[in-house]
Amino acid sequence: MERDEFLGPANSEMAAVEKTIRDWLASGDGMLRDPSIHLLEAGGKRLRPGLVLLSALCCRYDPRVVVPAAAAMEMIHMATLIHDDIIDNSRTRRGYPTVNSLWGEKTALLTGDYLLARAFTMLAGTAPGAMRYLSAAVDEMCLGQASEMLVGPCLEEGEYLRRIERKTAAFMSACCRLGSGVGRASRRAVEALSRYGRNLGMAFQLMDDILDITGDPREMGKPVANDLRQGVFTLPVIHSLSASPRRARLRAILDLVNHGETDGCMEEVVSILDASGSIEYARSVAGAFALEAGECLSNIPPSDARDSLLRITEFVVRRGY
Ligand code: IPE
Ligand code: IPE
Ligand code: MG
Ligand code: MG
Repeated sequence: MERDEFLGPANSEMAAVEKTIRDWLASGDGMLRDPSIHLLEAGGKRLRPGLVLLSALCCRYDPRVVVPAAAAMEMIHMATLIHDDIIDNSRTRRGYPTVNSLWGEKTALLTGDYLLARAFTMLAGTAPGAMRYLSAAVDEMCLGQASEMLVGPCLEEGEYLRRIERKTAAFMSACCRLGSGVGRASRRAVEALSRYGRNLGMAFQLMDDILDITGDPREMGKPVANDLRQGVFTLPVIHSLSASPRRARLRAILDLVNHGETDGCMEEVVSILDASGSIEYARSVAGAFALEAGECLSNIPPSDARDSLLRITEFVVRRGY
C-alpha cells in the first residue's frame, strides 16, 4: 500500500504541510536550514502529520490551524529520528545518508534540538492549549528511549510493551488528540481517537521491531539488525528466549551481534525465532493492537477520513517498510 492510498483525503493536504515545514525552517538565519530540511526532502511515510490531518478531518477541518499543527508533529518526529540515529550510530534513514553521517554528531544534535524548538514555537502560535500534553508526550518518548538504553535488555513482555508505549504509542496518540482537539471534536471523539492512536502506535512499533529482524534494508531505507546490535531485545527475541529449546544458542549469538559480529548471525537468529513461532507470535500481538485501534473508530461518524484511519491499521500490520 502506498502513502497516497492510506493517507486518503489527507494526501492532498500533505504538500501544504511540507511547504509549511520548509518555509518555517528556512525562516531563521539559515544556519541549520540544510541539515534540518534534509530529512524532510529524503521522504518518509508522513504517518504522524497524516494522523493529525485525518483526526481533524473526522471532525471540523480548518487548514489554518490543522496544517501547522501537522507540520509541528512531523518536525518533532524528525527531531527524534535525528537523535535516534546518533544514538544508534546509523548511516542511512529514509534511503539517504543520515544527518549525523553528513554533518557530524554535534551538528546533528543541534539540528534535532532546533527542530524541536521550531516545532514548539509553531505549536505555541497555533494550538497553545495542546502544549502541556504534547510536551508530556515528548517527555514519555525520551523516557521510553532512555529505559531502552539505560535499564538494560528487556526480558519480559509486559515491560517491553510499556517501553514501546512510551517511546512510540504516546506520541501517535498525541497526534490524534491534537488533530481532533483543533478540529473541535466532542470529548468522546477526542478520547476515541486518542485511544486509536495509542493502539496504532503499539502495532506500529511491534511491526517495526519485527522488520528490524526480517526486513529488507533497501525497502526500509534504514539499516536492519540495529536493535540487536544495540543489545535491545524486542518481542520476537523476548518470546524466543523463553520458548525456544535453542535459547542458550540464541543468547550466545545475540551476544556476538551486540559485539559487532553480524556475518551469518542474522540468518541463524531468524531461523531460531521462526522455529519457536516467535515472529508469528509478535505479529499476532501487533494484529491484536491494530484490531483494537480499528474498534476505537466505531465511536466516530463514518467519513472518508475515518476509512483512511482504518486503512492505516491494515497498512501497519502488512507493511514491508
Ligand atoms: C520510525 O518511524 C521510528 C519509529 C517509531 C519506529 P517511521 O517508520 O514512521 O519513519 P518515517 O517517518 O516513515 O521515516
Ligand atoms: C525509535 O525506535 C523510536 C523513536 C521514538 C525515535 P527505533 O529505534 O526502532 O526506530 P528506527 O527503527 O531506528 O526507525
Ligand atoms: Mg533506531
Ligand atoms: Mg526500529
